[in-house]
Amino acid sequence: MKQTIVSGMRPTGKLHLGHYLGVIQNWVQLQDKYDCYFFAADWHALTTKYDKTEDLRQNTLDVIMDWLACGIDPEKSTIYVQSLVPEIAELNIYLGMITPQNWVERDPCLKDMAKILKSKEGQASQINFGLMGYPVLMSSDIMMFNADYVPVGIDQVAHIEITRDITRRFNNLYGEFFHEAKPLLNHCSLICGLDGNKMGKSFNNDIKISDTEEVTAKKIMTAITDRSRLRKDDPGHPDDCEVAFKYWKIFGSEEEIKIVQDECIKGQRGCAQCKRQLAEKINSTLAPIRQKRKYYEEHQDEVIKIIEDGSQRARLKAKEVLSQVRNLVKMY
Ligand code: TRP
Ligand code: SF4
Repeated sequence: MKQTIVSGMRPTGKLHLGHYLGVIQNWVQLQDKYDCYFFAADWHALTTKYDKTEDLRQNTLDVIMDWLACGIDPEKSTIYVQSLVPEIAELNIYLGMITPQNWVERDPCLKDMAKILKSKEGQASQINFGLMGYPVLMSSDIMMFNADYVPVGIDQVAHIEITRDITRRFNNLYGEFFHEAKPLLNHCSLICGLDGNKMGKSFNNDIKISDTEEVTAKKIMTAITDRSRLRKDDPGHPDDCEVAFKYWKIFGSEEEIKIVQDECIKGQRGCAQCKRQLAEKINSTLAPIRQKRKYYEEHQDEVIKIIEDGSQRARLKAKEVLSQVRNLVKMY
C-alpha cells in the first residue's frame, strides 16, 4: 500500500516559474511513489477573496491546466477541486468542534494574513469567521484522505502543526484513526523574481508558465545584472549579477554556465546578448510544457472532464473516511 500525499493551491491565477520549480516539479516526482491528491483550494481562496469571485472559476481552470502541462498526470494522481468534494465541509464541522479558539488565534500564517487585511479599507479589512477557520479547513483537506505527508513551502508548516494537534486531539477523543501528517519540505533552490526579490504575481516580477516566448524574452531583458557594469566589454562579475546569472545556473547546462561565466569575466559578453541567449534557453526548456498547455486551452472540455472524474474519485475515498468519522463521533 502506497502512502498518501495531499497538497493544494489557492487558485489565484496563472502560475509562474517559482511555482513550477518550487512546487510542481516536486509534485511530479512524488506521483510515482505515493498515492497523490492534488486540488485547487477554491474555498480557501474565498476566505479572503469572497468579494471578488468573478475570476475564480477561470483561475481554477488555469491552475489545473498549468499542472497538467507540467506533468501532473490524472492517470497517476487524483486531481480535483476542493468545493466539488463536499465531504471536506462536513469533516470541517467535526474538526471545528474540537479545535480550541486559541489554536487558530496563535497561527502565525493567519496573523500575517490578518495584517495584510487590516491595511485594506472597509468591509475587506474584517477577519471573517471563515478566515479564522483557515487552518481547520486545511486540516480537513489533509485528514479527508488520511494523508501521511503534505508537500508545502516553509510558510505553511505552522498550519500543518495545527493539523497534527487536531489529529492527536481527534484520536484521543474518539479513538486512533487518523495518521499524523508530516510536512514534506522541498529543498530545491528558489528562483527569484526579475527584480531580485521573491517571485510573486503581485510584485510584477514573474515569468508565467503560460507567457509567450516574446513576452518571456521581453521580461528577461529587464532582469537585473551586474550593476557595476557600464559597457559591454567591461569585465563582469557573474556572482554580483543578481538575476540573469542566477537564472543561467537554474536553466543552463554545466558547460553553458561555464562559458557564460568565463566570457562575462573577460568582458567578452554583453549583458543584452547574454540575456537574449538566456531567454532562448528558458523558452526552449518551457516549450514542451507550453505546447501541452496550449493543447488544454484549446480542449477545455477535456480539462473539465479531468476535474470531474478526479473529484468523483476523491469523493469515493472521502466518503469512506467520513463514514468512519461519523461512526467514531457517534453521529446518527
Ligand atoms: N494554504 C495553502 C497555500 O496557501 C493551500 C492549501 C489549502 C493546502 N489546503 C491545503 C496545502 C492542504 C496543502 C494541504 O499554499
Ligand atoms: Fe550577468 Fe550575463 Fe551580464 Fe555577465 S554578461 S553580468 S552573467 S547578464
